[in-house]
Amino acid sequence: MSVAKPLPHDAAPLHVSGKARYVDDIPVPANTLSLAFGLSTVARGRVTSLDLAPVRAAEGVVAVLGPEDLHPIPDVSPGAHDEPLIADGVVHYVGHPLFIVAATSHRAARRAARLARVTYGEEEPILSVEAALAAGSRFEQGPVTWTKGDADAAIAAAPRVVTGRIDMGGQEHFYLEGQAALVLPQEGGDMIVHSSTQHPTEIQHKVAEALDLPMNAVRVEVRRMGGGFGGKESQGNHLAVACALMARATGRPCKMRYDRDDDMTVTGKRHDFRIDYRVGIDEEGRILGIAFDQYTRAGWSQDLTLAVADRAMLHADNAYHLPAARITSHRLKTNMQSATAYRGFGGPQGMLGIERVLDHIAHAVGRDPLEIRKLNFYAPTRPEAHPVVIGEPAPETPSPEVQEDRVTSGDKTVTRVHVDPDGLQTTPYHMPVEDFVLHELVAELEQMADYHARRDAIRAWNRVNPLLKRGIALTPVKFGISFTLTHLNQAGALVHVYSDGSIHLNHGGTEMGQGLFQKVAQVTAASFGVEADRVKITATDTGKVPNTSATAASSGSDLNGMAAKAAADTIRDRMAAHLAESHQTTPEKVRFSGGRVEVAGESYSFAEAAALCYQHRVSLSSTGFYATPKITWDRLRGVGRPFFYFAYGASVTEVVIDTLTGENRILRTDILHDAGTSLNPALDIGQVEGGYVQGAGWLTTEELVWDGKGRLRTHAPSTYKIPACSDRPRSFNVHLWEKGRNREDTIYRSKAVGEPPFMHGISALMALSDAIAACGDGSSYPDLHAPATPERILAAVAQQRRQA
Ligand code: MTE
Ligand code: MOS
Repeated sequence: MSVAKPLPHDAAPLHVSGKARYVDDIPVPANTLSLAFGLSTVARGRVTSLDLAPVRAAEGVVAVLGPEDLHPIPDVSPGAHDEPLIADGVVHYVGHPLFIVAATSHRAARRAARLARVTYGEEEPILSVEAALAAGSRFEQGPVTWTKGDADAAIAAAPRVVTGRIDMGGQEHFYLEGQAALVLPQEGGDMIVHSSTQHPTEIQHKVAEALDLPMNAVRVEVRRMGGGFGGKESQGNHLAVACALMARATGRPCKMRYDRDDDMTVTGKRHDFRIDYRVGIDEEGRILGIAFDQYTRAGWSQDLTLAVADRAMLHADNAYHLPAARITSHRLKTNMQSATAYRGFGGPQGMLGIERVLDHIAHAVGRDPLEIRKLNFYAPTRPEAHPVVIGEPAPETPSPEVQEDRVTSGDKTVTRVHVDPDGLQTTPYHMPVEDFVLHELVAELEQMADYHARRDAIRAWNRVNPLLKRGIALTPVKFGISFTLTHLNQAGALVHVYSDGSIHLNHGGTEMGQGLFQKVAQVTAASFGVEADRVKITATDTGKVPNTSATAASSGSDLNGMAAKAAADTIRDRMAAHLAESHQTTPEKVRFSGGRVEVAGESYSFAEAAALCYQHRVSLSSTGFYATPKITWDRLRGVGRPFFYFAYGASVTEVVIDTLTGENRILRTDILHDAGTSLNPALDIGQVEGGYVQGAGWLTTEELVWDGKGRLRTHAPSTYKIPACSDRPRSFNVHLWEKGRNREDTIYRSKAVGEPPFMHGISALMALSDAIAACGDGSSYPDLHAPATPERILAAVAQQRRQA
């Protein structure tokens, strides 16, 4: 069968030969204009004058649109309607677009954009968490709090209390292809849009809204992105809407791409977080109650912040049972780029909070962090109680009653376990954990990575090496799969079979390098019993499949795979019905496999079968649709089943640091990841490897620096360092978990794999912390924040040595 095969990415030869076509490579008509934005140079204030005459007079300039020219200025926000395309007299960050210039070349547009004469009434920008809190500058009325049980009472009654804080930086997406759009005006004012976007339907919606057109007048096409990583969920709206406005104003095709500096200056990044924690534990290190305060700088507009911050809260437990928990989230409005989606969507930040807590507890009680992690894991679930049957939905687990846990604190030993009727523990948002596989998976990884022997060897090595120190850490991942905005969990597909037996596939998902198109082609081919190369993969197109969700939340293959299967199965069933009738048999007896169709002793090639059906007027085209079952979520109360299932995995990282310079290397990484029954192990391993390296980059080398005036100083690869090939682990052993099965009825029992591996990067930070701890005498916990740049490592080493 074509699923589960390790086929290469369908466009791999095009990628490596430079022939893959991105938006900027699409041949355009000779009269096409290039666009650029003029950008604010101050972070906060009024625009007191904006003189665009020098821009209009510049060489090559054809048209300029400023705030005076747009009535009203269209909104480009993904939902909150708080983001006018260009500043409406008030600027909120350095890089805020002020006007749009269209010229005969990309360079001419960029040059002209710098010629505007702008004066500002500057105000003091709000940049830090503290400044935002002091000014009450936030989204929503106040902080959001979700609770399970009485955390304060549990902490107060606990034998020991550990408190601390971790700061973690944001992250630039650094997709290799920058943001880009091309708009081609059509007859009657219609528009065709090519956009580098994860969300074609939103581009369609925003362009239609801006031009006051119905959505059916706008068609958006996306063949591929050169990486998105969440940065193209909402941030492409500006370019597409600007091009559409200009295309209407000039009647000419318009295209826009940001140069790297502009891309980094204008667009949002991962949310940075500060997380404060207070945790009550027993003598062994078991968590009894915990309180988290999460603070995030969301930038100037809301964008996707509420959902990102929610997901950070939803991952504050990671793999650990928190008997009593209070999680509070502050979404702070600051004069910076509007922070946006980025692989993990807040999950990594929430998860790093609890991983830091576990590490800190281990230090406090003087035990191996891995022991403490395992001690606090959710209880193992009983697989025999939840048998996996391919094609059958998992049995229903009754949702637990939302009951307030009462804390019974007797003689300082507090045992608070929230158990539902099925014997399952629940998350802080009261969802039963039905499939907790990490006990088994981590045990296998310990063996695979030889964790214990290496840990002892590292201890011994550190004793005799004063300058270089090694460290090791194992961290787990439990990541919730589904959009938390329930209605987004739907997808559509369109499949045609032509009379020569070739297959045309289209669905609502977008391709950004993750291999979604190949996986869905494999699923489609499987329905017909043919190989994937018979399936033509086609560009995402709002004219073929409407009302799509962003390709995000790792749900691309879960949703679109199911929709494509539904479409393909419909056609196959029609073919089977016809062939059965014409051969005096029943449809169940018609077999599609090995590229052939067997019926009543006859054997046809798939092409012959398709031709027969065509000649007998059988429809060989179908749509397919899928909506994820079981999920419910009340975000105001923080209660429900926001996730269809969890993806799991764990990683071990070993590092070495130079205590004189803070330089460091990842020596070895071992990962065991649960992709369920993988749809394509080659692509999935690629996702795990890439996710890990990107996650480790977030926590080590990638540092965003804004100066006191709110100017991003790290806006190019010269100052912002993503991992290079030479930064990958020297020894890198990545395996998919052989026993992985999805207990839920997902597409061929696979699991989503796009985001979860990103969080394996956390083991790199914990390993660095372990190496730093080896510089001290154990009396103080290394105060290591992220990203752990050489400077921060050096400072943490110095602190350890001072205390020792
Ligand atoms: N892999 C590559 N090569 N490029 C990307 O842009 N984006 C990630 C992940 N893996 C990304 C990637 C993100 S943020 C998500 S949500 C998923 O892919 C989206 O695709 P999927 O739902 O098909 O997994
Ligand atoms: Mo991914 S952050 O959900 O695009």
